[in-house]
Amino acid sequence: MRVLVCGGAGYIGSNMTAMLAKAGHEPIVLDNLSKGHRAAVRNARFILGDFGDYDFTVDVLRKYGIAAVMHFAAYIEVGESVSQPLRYYDNNVSRTRTLLAAMETVGVRKFVFSSTAAVYGMPDRIPITEDTPKMPINPYGETKWSVERMCHFQSETDKLRYAALRYFNACGAGFDATLGEDHHPESHLIPLIIQAAMGKRDNIRIFGIDYSTPDGTCVRDYIHVEDLCAAHLLALDKLDNVAEAVYNLGNGTGYSVRQVIDTVRRVCGKDFKVVEEDRRPGDPPVLTADATKAQNELGWKPRYPDLETIVQTAWAFHAAHPNGYGD
Ligand code: UFG
Repeated sequence: MRVLVCGGAGYIGSNMTAMLAKAGHEPIVLDNLSKGHRAAVRNARFILGDFGDYDFTVDVLRKYGIAAVMHFAAYIEVGESVSQPLRYYDNNVSRTRTLLAAMETVGVRKFVFSSTAAVYGMPDRIPITEDTPKMPINPYGETKWSVERMCHFQSETDKLRYAALRYFNACGAGFDATLGEDHHPESHLIPLIIQAAMGKRDNIRIFGIDYSTPDGTCVRDYIHVEDLCAAHLLALDKLDNVAEAVYNLGNGTGYSVRQVIDTVRRVCGKDFKVVEEDRRPGDPPVLTADATKAQNELGWKPRYPDLETIVQTAWAFHAAHPNGYGD
């Protein structure tokens, strides 16, 4: 199937592009390189441009005979979404609306959307099931939830068949350590710890050590990027049978910030300074997924649930790309 991968030069999108090609699909990457890296796209056609440009996107969908769209081109910084909400509504909601309008015009019906556990906000019950109330606590989570609602209503008109995949903490590197995380600025825990281990930053800060968790630090559900991508392939197939498919994607196992730090230390064989700081506003103590629905309905089973393996793949990418993609 010819699949347009919006944001295919980014972290998860580039892994998805590689996996689509390996699975016999024909991925075509559309990316404006505002965040992504040209070097992360190999063995796929690359189109420089903006999915929020209606005429351009209609042309692309038509010209390449696109059968499905996967959308990874969102802004993802929670803190930035609080200080610049309009920017997030523009990119994550308005432009996605334009993309869906272009799809409607051309008659492309299949859409796989990267959503997030942030749609749940600070849930009362852990692990989180898909029917947990959606109460985002920041503009980032709210914009993702808005798109889910938009897709829902559009699917009811019969013009769209969509999957919304709610990622927990995406991590690790895929495809022989060639495609990994290179965000600017970096805010995610595992790459930050690895940068500390590489001596690229002075220390790693722990945001809060007084949570009601076994070691006092926050617990998150770290899910390997290739496991996420594998779920997208299954979800794409699922859209042959259903018009709406919403799944949590996580391992169901939580690791604390301290456990992640210890694992990076062990895997990298390097020591670094750890600084204990106050809590970061908006961090729930524990976020873990109940992904039973994806397992039962998609037959999805994460292959790399073990934190040690996740960190090994991330470390291998950073060791091979000490300056990221170098752009
Ligand atoms: N953390 C630190 N020090 C750091 C960075 C992070 O202690 O320098 C902690 C955070 O406080 C949190 C954990 O490490 O407890 C993980 O933090 P990340 O920033 O890596 O990830 P989050 O859990 O905050 O966010 C992730 C995604 C978001 C998404 C959210 C959904 O990055 O895009 O999950 O819940 F919205």
